[in-house]
Amino acid sequence: MANIPASSGARSSLHGQWSSRLAFILAVTGSAVGLGNIWKFPYVAGANGGSAFVLVYLGCILVVGLPVMMSEILIGRRGRRNPVETMTLVAQEEGSSKRWGLVGALGVAAGVLILSYYSVIAGWSLDFIIESLTGSFQGKSKEEVGAVIEGLNASWQRSMLWHSIFMGLSVFVVARGVEKGLESAVRFMVPGLLILLLVLLVFAMTTGAFMQGLEFLFTPDFSALTGQSVLIALGQAFFSLSIGMGAIMAYGAYLPQETSIPNASITVVLADTFIALLSAMIIFPIVFANGLNPEAGPDLVFRTLPLAFGQMPGGIVFSTLFFVLLSFAALTSAIGLMEPAVAWTVERFGLTRRAAAIMIGMVIWFVGIGTALSTNLMSEFRILGLDWFSAVDYLTSNIMLPLGGVLITVFAGWFMTRKSTSSELGGDSGIVTAWRFLARYVAPIGVLLVLANSTGLLALITGD
Ligand code: PFF
Repeated sequence: MANIPASSGARSSLHGQWSSRLAFILAVTGSAVGLGNIWKFPYVAGANGGSAFVLVYLGCILVVGLPVMMSEILIGRRGRRNPVETMTLVAQEEGSSKRWGLVGALGVAAGVLILSYYSVIAGWSLDFIIESLTGSFQGKSKEEVGAVIEGLNASWQRSMLWHSIFMGLSVFVVARGVEKGLESAVRFMVPGLLILLLVLLVFAMTTGAFMQGLEFLFTPDFSALTGQSVLIALGQAFFSLSIGMGAIMAYGAYLPQETSIPNASITVVLADTFIALLSAMIIFPIVFANGLNPEAGPDLVFRTLPLAFGQMPGGIVFSTLFFVLLSFAALTSAIGLMEPAVAWTVERFGLTRRAAAIMIGMVIWFVGIGTALSTNLMSEFRILGLDWFSAVDYLTSNIMLPLGGVLITVFAGWFMTRKSTSSELGGDSGIVTAWRFLARYVAPIGVLLVLANSTGLLALITGD
């Protein structure tokens, strides 16, 4: 972001502006591509029936994800403030209530909660850089490889150490201002990650279970589908695209007026989905070839990929590089998760960016202790039957993000005039008409139905 005012926009951001269209796309891609694609997508797909889940996920991305992302960017660019202020300001300009600002506040809270556990998982990735360098996976059996992540999870000291280091790194990057590190980090991270994933894909093809992996992912079996798994697919779509919490709205606030929002959104959505599918296509052949359990849960990737690295020539180099890149991918997402809270604190309390980043970082670090301890000291602790990590994850991905997303699209589709939205989306065209239809009807009704269905509300209403 160069510190220049918006060239032709009505208003300029207090935090500067992206230096180019590419910089914006890289930043949003950096936010979208993260642990969600490589760590979360495979394990939730594995735990929810594989192919049925994947197809629902793709549907959610297209019908809900894309229109919500476009709505967020267009509102962000119009308001050019932090999400709370942006929603308040744009709502007032469009003749609606100031209370729309609460949607921004919901997003700030979601970002804080998500990063609190995201940081712990990113800590696993940092730890695995050291494990890779010291050859912990070379030529090891699946039991020996599995023991590495189990050992890390069992130790509250190590979990806390890496959580603290990752939060420190996030605060450092955010405090320096997004423009300094982010653009260059994303520029080598996404291509680097892609190359390593392609190396792993070649390995997956040699495991002898490649077709079995593909079948698991792509042969439709809708009998495995439940209301819960549809909600989880929807939540995963929101999480993976970083939408529903104002992160993309905050980034949209720094977007030059002439950049095409539909084109940028489509590019990011395609890149994000491609990387998620690629990860799953690598992980499941390794799972089946080694007799591992596809429903292993959150540590699935940390059991499978190291096993693959341990068996391939040059494994130490590839493995180290991979976890370095995964940690970077997590860091560029962490920045997005902190940005709404930090921008809000700066604008609301007049703090410097540095002070705001440190303060918010400390809050997130503190909340994250629950997750760092959820596999050891607090493993018996339950909220509504879930451990701390699962409870925070469920609340944020499956409830807060979809709810935030509905409110954002409803606002853009119903409460902003057609003139305002189509001028942001580049004039009246087929794309604007399609966006408007999805944003006004399909996305909100779809999300509300899924939410109502999984909470049992629908059964209550219909009397079934
Ligand atoms: N999209 C990120 C991932 O897939 O890892 C997670 C995320 C980042 C969610 C930023 C929300 C957000 F604002």
